[in-house]
Amino acid sequence: MYVPKNIVTNHHLMKYMDTSDEWIQERTGIKERRYADRTGETTTTMGVEAAKIALERAGITPGDIDFIVFATLSPDYYFPGCGVLLQRAMKMKEIGALDVRNQCSGFIYALSVADQFIRTGTYKNILVVGSEKHSFGLDFSTRGRNVSVIFGDGAGAVVLQPTEEDNRGLLSTHLHSDGESAEILAMFNPGTHANHWTGEQLADFDDAEMGEMFFSHAMIDKAQVFPNMDGPAVFKKAVEKFPEVIMEALNHNGLQASDLKLLIPHQANLRIAQFVQQKLKLKDDQVYNNIQKYGNTTAASIPIALCEAWEAGRVKDGELVCLAAFGSGFTWGSAVLRW
Ligand code: ACO
Repeated sequence: MYVPKNIVTNHHLMKYMDTSDEWIQERTGIKERRYADRTGETTTTMGVEAAKIALERAGITPGDIDFIVFATLSPDYYFPGCGVLLQRAMKMKEIGALDVRNQCSGFIYALSVADQFIRTGTYKNILVVGSEKHSFGLDFSTRGRNVSVIFGDGAGAVVLQPTEEDNRGLLSTHLHSDGESAEILAMFNPGTHANHWTGEQLADFDDAEMGEMFFSHAMIDKAQVFPNMDGPAVFKKAVEKFPEVIMEALNHNGLQASDLKLLIPHQANLRIAQFVQQKLKLKDDQVYNNIQKYGNTTAASIPIALCEAWEAGRVKDGELVCLAAFGSGFTWGSAVLRW
């Protein structure tokens, strides 16, 4: 894992918007988050830092990696994706590099893709990265406070390799989506939607004969270039789908919740994680939470939490771990692994 040095507390955010430490902690559990260096760090460079540690711990070099899967919603460029920028920065061979755009579920989706390539014997060393530099694209005025207080920057990475051992490693992944509520948690612009989907004025266009619909001056003037979230609606769906997809994973593997050494939920909101814990009757030490320190780092939150849990000795060889995520799309998913 890699998180930037710059710690931003709730009190710090109060300088920019009408909010309070009490409100943020009570609703989300977040005390502080990290923000990347404004010009010195990008989503890719943070991913590279996490990847270097993952490679070192796997005992391999960049030349050994034969596929990259990079999950993010805050890429360095609109295109090309961060995967190729990482391939260049780490001087890897001319291997495949895939970018995954599944927001909070990005890491689970990325892991699932990598798992299929391993299972078919296509690749032997796959680098899976989740990284976000949210701090560059948030509305730090009071208007954007329901979103901006939640998110933080950081990166996590894993190396996926085949194993000969039965019942070891990634046992299963389950992925889902429901686009019915796509606009509930979304960043609409820049984009090609032209207000097609909802009949709502999600983007204002300049008065031009051609083009200028993807990104217009009016969008900037009207602050239409920030993420949009109906928090209570996301919350409601998250507390339904998290337990559902975890149970799907457990049932698939013939396991009970009590068999899990650790559940690592995507760090969306501490209240969501607590709800899931209660619902599945998990003990406090069976659920890993670190949103208090990092906020919601989206595609990076699960690998960051997994790394911290492993470093703290909370995931040891042979122990069962469940990863689960829910987010924008909506998309959600789970993975069960025997470490
Ligand atoms: N500081 C102070 N007040 C605020 C802030 C803030 N940062 N943000 C919103 N408020 C105000 C609102 O304006 C509203 O005021 P009003 O009652 O005068 O209109 C009031 O607080 C309550 O707003 P709600 O949105 O109803 O508050 P809620 O209790 O639902 O909490 C929150 C908001 C934290 C966003 C919650 O809905 C939530 O966590 N939802 C899940 C969203 C989530 O986890 N998103 C992460 C991305 S998706 C994912 O990872 C799953």
